[in-house]
Amino acid sequence: MAEHLQLGITPTTTIFALLVALAIYLIIGKLIIKRKNHVDRLPLPPGPKPWPIIGNLPHLGSVPHSSLAEMARKYGPLMHLKLGSVHVVVAASASVASQFLKTHDANFAYRPPNAGAKYVAYNYRDLVFAPYSPRWRFLRKICYSHLFSPKALDNFHHIRQIIDEHQSGYGTESHKDLLSMLNGLKRDGNGDGEGDSLDDIEIKVLLLTFRLHPSTPLSIPHMSRETCEVNGYSIPIGSTLLVNVWAIARDPSIWSDSLEFRPERFLPGGAQANVDVKGNDFELIPFGAGRRICLQDESRDSDDPIGGGHVGTRVRLGTAQ
Ligand code: HEM
Repeated sequence: MAEHLQLGITPTTTIFALLVALAIYLIIGKLIIKRKNHVDRLPLPPGPKPWPIIGNLPHLGSVPHSSLAEMARKYGPLMHLKLGSVHVVVAASASVASQFLKTHDANFAYRPPNAGAKYVAYNYRDLVFAPYSPRWRFLRKICYSHLFSPKALDNFHHIRQIIDEHQSGYGTESHKDLLSMLNGLKRDGNGDGEGDSLDDIEIKVLLLTFRLHPSTPLSIPHMSRETCEVNGYSIPIGSTLLVNVWAIARDPSIWSDSLEFRPERFLPGGAQANVDVKGNDFELIPFGAGRRICLQDESRDSDDPIGGGHVGTRVRLGTAQ
């Protein structure tokens, strides 16, 4: 007690300190609640009127990315739909996509539940549909270090030797399996079939192909963990996010003659000469962006700048012309 008095700590100062701490706690708490209420009070993004029970499912048509692009012309690049009882938000411009996949990246790093992932992927145990969690982080880490590192790729060298053996026997009756057929296509299409890496021109052609014909036009759905605000609208907790990669890559306000096949736009001096597909340039995101960006992108190296060599994605300018 005497020591406390020496330090100037009296029962009065203790009570005063506690009251100040309580006041700070209440003020901060109130501010957070106010902010939450503020977001809840904002309107939902615009979108077509949903039907009872089924919501906007009939609006999707047989080619959903195309129907959604058409709707975005009417409702704008940030839309809200109900698919059944699920809130769905659709990003149809580079700037809206960057709001979700950059500004609110952590909040949208989850995947919505789906029966395929539950029953086929062993209750969401694969990497693509795993919930955003330490386990997901661990799985990505394993892939970087044991599947795509230069050392790991070296370890697959023996597979290329097998491939060589098939190539030497191409065309003979005894080698008519899938691998020899693919080898044959490669040989017929490329002339020599030599080399493991893509050259600059080949990469530009790939970019061109990914722009007009992305393999996943609506990307893989993301899901939000908290309610948040985007462009003045409220995005409810648990919303499914669809990024219309297809519509963004055809946006006439970004791409001049957007539907034209013009390889020179990606060549030095062209309007999109420096565009990359690593998720930094939201006008071209065939591999997605943010935390859940395609894992393949991490397999990039200096000889193989889009990582496609590892899966045999090879396009020759000669073929595209
Ligand atoms: C041309 C080929 C490919 C394209 C266009 C492509 C595209 C994509 C896209 C759009 C996503 C979703 C990104 C997002 O959720 O925002 C994705 C995710 C993913 N991709 Fe690819 N991909 C390709 C090849 C590959 C290959 C070869 C692998 C494996 C070696 C791979 C592994 C993955 C994985 C694991 C994910 C999920 C990542 C996560 O949820 O954390 N992809 N890919």
